[in-house]
Amino acid sequence: MGRITFNGIMLLMILQIFLVATTTGDETCESDRIMEEQCRIHTYKTVKPLLDYFRQVRNEIEQSETKEKLISDLMEKYHEIVKIHETFKKEAALLNEYKNKVIKGENDLQLCQNKVDKSESDINSQQNIILKLEKQLTDKSTNLENCQVQLKSLNSTLIEKDENIKRLSENIKSNKEHQKTLELELEKSKSIIIKHENDIQLCRLENNKLNRTSENIREEQKNIQLKLKDCETKLSQSALDKLTPTTCLPFGDYSGVHQLNVSGIGLFNVLCDSQLAGPGWIVIQQRVGGNENFTRDWATFRKGFGSFESDFFLGLEKLHRITSLQRFELYTHLVDEDDNTYNARYDGFKISDEDNGYALNLGKFNGTNYEEGMRYHENMKFSTFDHDNDKVDNGNCAVWGKSGWWYNHCSNCNLNAPYGSLYCWNYGFILLKEVKMLIRPKEAMKK
Ligand SMILES: *[C@@H]1O[C@H](CO)[C@@H](O)[C@H](O)[C@H]1NC(C)=O
Ligand SMILES: *[C@@H]1O[C@H](CO)[C@@H](O)[C@H](O)[C@H]1NC(C)=O
Ligand SMILES: *[C@@H]1O[C@H](CO)[C@@H](O)[C@H](O)[C@H]1NC(C)=O
Ligand SMILES: *[C@@H]1O[C@H](CO)[C@@H](O)[C@H](O)[C@H]1NC(C)=O
Ligand SMILES: *[C@@H]1O[C@H](CO)[C@@H](O)[C@H](O)[C@H]1NC(C)=O
Repeated sequence: MGRITFNGIMLLMILQIFLVATTTGDETCESDRIMEEQCRIHTYKTVKPLLDYFRQVRNEIEQSETKEKLISDLMEKYHEIVKIHETFKKEAALLNEYKNKVIKGENDLQLCQNKVDKSESDINSQQNIILKLEKQLTDKSTNLENCQVQLKSLNSTLIEKDENIKRLSENIKSNKEHQKTLELELEKSKSIIIKHENDIQLCRLENNKLNRTSENIREEQKNIQLKLKDCETKLSQSALDKLTPTTCLPFGDYSGVHQLNVSGIGLFNVLCDSQLAGPGWIVIQQRVGGNENFTRDWATFRKGFGSFESDFFLGLEKLHRITSLQRFELYTHLVDEDDNTYNARYDGFKISDEDNGYALNLGKFNGTNYEEGMRYHENMKFSTFDHDNDKVDNGNCAVWGKSGWWYNHCSNCNLNAPYGSLYCWNYGFILLKEVKMLIRPKEAMKK
């Protein structure tokens, strides 16, 4: 019994130690949860069955019914426990090691804790920063939202503007097209204008032509009017001439006696001839029958004498007045005894005034003969038996020739000589039976 008691006390003591050891181990482990867990699991695993067993044994011992039987078992168990104790010792050593490790771990942990603290403070500060940043972020996001809202409104405005631009560009397009059509129309208009300008140019040319033509026409009209005036004056002149003719021209083909009105003389009768050499001749001297005495004085030759039916001399004063008005031609018509006819023209027949002795001018000759006969008397003054104007010093050709005439050294031709002794030199002496002297305005030849 003593042994068992001792063993029991020993066992309890060991148990006690163990419990103390485990208790301290518990406290140590509590700082590190992982270690504690390991510890507990380990302790529990190793000690629990033992404890259970001990409880059971105690119960058995306390109950003390199978105490003897159990002692041997208990001894066995004790050996086992010793063994376990050995192991346990080892374990304890290990545990100690672990403990050291744990302590070191704690230190590390402390360091770690410090680090963690520092980290936490860092984290805190970081968190603060993050908070700040978050705040800023929220601010920014609100800003962003505002921005987005603005952007949206801007976008809508932009869209509107886009549409406006589209419309405007369409307008521009249509305007361009309109401009194109306008340009085409302008081009057309330009070509039309050019055509019109050409037309106008043509018109101007035409107008100029017409102007020139009209100017020509006007000039023509002027000329015509001048001619008309001329005609009228001539007509009135001729009418006047007809009323108061100074020549036989107005009477044309009407031969016979007509009345002339010549200034300085007035009205007087003349014999007009249109048979011998055309119309309008005044017969100024005629020898056709020999009934007239040509032995006449100055005054009679001045006045004129004889009959238009036979022989006559018109008169020197009348000849002077008539031939003073215009240029006259002289036509002489001679017929000799053998009926040969000699005609001659002088284109400037003119009788000067009485103061110049009624001198004879003939002009150019145009005829068949006896020019030299009459030419011999040119520029000679008229002479009568009572008016000696000839070139003969002693004596009067008019007395000798029995007639008044334009004597030189007397005569080559004396157409006033008494009938039967009428003569003219024509490359030889010819005796005449008929003489006519006629005058007509030189203008009449042109008409
Ligand atoms: C602007 O509006 C158009 C049309 O409604 C849309 O397609 C586009 O995404 C918008 N842009 C923004 C920046 O809102
Ligand atoms: C034509 O003549 C008229 C009158 O003489 C003148 O007024 C007009 O300017 C002239 N026209 C031309 C194109 O010469
Ligand atoms: C004759 O002519 C003059 C002008 O030379 C004129 O005054 C006069 O009236 C004329 N006489 C007649 C009857 O025609
Ligand atoms: C002609 O008249 C003159 C002068 O009067 C005269 O002497 C002469 O005899 C007349 N002749 C004849 C033929 O009558
Ligand atoms: C001369 O008279 C004739 C007819 O009388 C005429 O044909 C001719 O032209 C005259 N000649 C001159 C130079 O006048």
